Amino acid sequence: MFNFDEVIDRKGTNCAKWDTIEENHKPADVLPMWVADMDFKSPHKIEEALQKRVQQGVYGYSIIPDEYLEAVISWMKRRHDFDVDKSWLVPTPGVVTALKICVNAFTKEGDSIIINKPVYYPFDASIILNHRHVVENPMVLKDGHYEMDYEAFEQAIVDHDVKMFILCNPYNPIGKVWKEEELKKIGIICQKHHVMVVADEIHQDFVYRDHVHIPFYNVDETFKDFSIILTAPSKTFNLAGLQTSNIIIANESLRQAYQETMNKCGVNAPNFLGIIACQCAYNECELWVDEMLEYVYDNFMYFDDFLKNNLPHIHLIEPEGLYLAWVDFRECGLLQDELEKVMLEKAGLWLDEGYIFGTGGEGFERFNLAVPRSTVEDACQRLLKAFQK
Ligand SMILES: Cc1ncc(COP(=O)(O)O)c(C=O)c1O
Repeated sequence: MFNFDEVIDRKGTNCAKWDTIEENHKPADVLPMWVADMDFKSPHKIEEALQKRVQQGVYGYSIIPDEYLEAVISWMKRRHDFDVDKSWLVPTPGVVTALKICVNAFTKEGDSIIINKPVYYPFDASIILNHRHVVENPMVLKDGHYEMDYEAFEQAIVDHDVKMFILCNPYNPIGKVWKEEELKKIGIICQKHHVMVVADEIHQDFVYRDHVHIPFYNVDETFKDFSIILTAPSKTFNLAGLQTSNIIIANESLRQAYQETMNKCGVNAPNFLGIIACQCAYNECELWVDEMLEYVYDNFMYFDDFLKNNLPHIHLIEPEGLYLAWVDFRECGLLQDELEKVMLEKAGLWLDEGYIFGTGGEGFERFNLAVPRSTVEDACQRLLKAFQK
């Protein structure tokens, strides 16, 4: 039994969520629920593994042991029925770093890269900062459920001579867990038009009820020839500060190109503490994950019930995965800057505003629910104060 109800004071730890309220000119008593890390302690076993290593006292150059790679392989197999060969793994410091390496390794300046919308905003930044062109494929929201417009996707690929698709699987911020047949359609279109797929699967471990995370490689054997999968233990075990990701590249020439670009940019393997934490997480902390997932899902249910019973004009998009709630405020009839103002000044909530995720995000807010239940209760009361009709 793990105690996810425990409220941890994160202030004074150089914490991006709790220690930047003043410098961002937010109200002093604002409740921050924006950035995607957890307010839970990571599993105690990770703390012990790190402490043991830190106590030794020598922090010189280090290597990545075979046991580490085996831990990653075992996790992918146990949790996702995903067979990963050791030679495919390229440990990298962070998923966004890996994304930028991919953009540089597999496209050139001026090339077009397609992304769904609304989507995790560093996708745009990774493209634009590298002088590539963003092509948007907006998702279609129908009866509270998001679907992809495959015809528009294919047409945009043809019209813009698209070279790469960055897929968010599962999908931040809308909480969608892609189904096998959906991924198959995407893969077939990309294969037909020689579009490389970079599948960001950092949220792979967060799926609820009968939803199953399907690694892009598991959809079709031939998809391995033109795609790369980005994974990390950081969301699942709350290790973002340790900047450790595991990039999976089956195709040898793609892997060589990725490693060459990594080398050229001076990006090395993750630091030794990240390696220790990830190895321990994947080998020893599975029970913690199972309980954490139940707890977070109950947070979603609490939040949903509260909205339905008290604020029926505000709608939670049904969560299929992630710990991020995507909430529809459009019935409130506020412009996006009015909504942001009400959220901050009346509700006292600091969220990721929907519009920052681009087209289709206006009128939505993203709440981070990887928090103790008391924080969700507090957020609900704050919403009630601001939005009760
Ligand atoms: C889809 C997605 N990719 C990547 C990241 C960040 O990964 P990293 O911290 O390893 O760069 C996040 C964090 O929220 C995310 O949601």
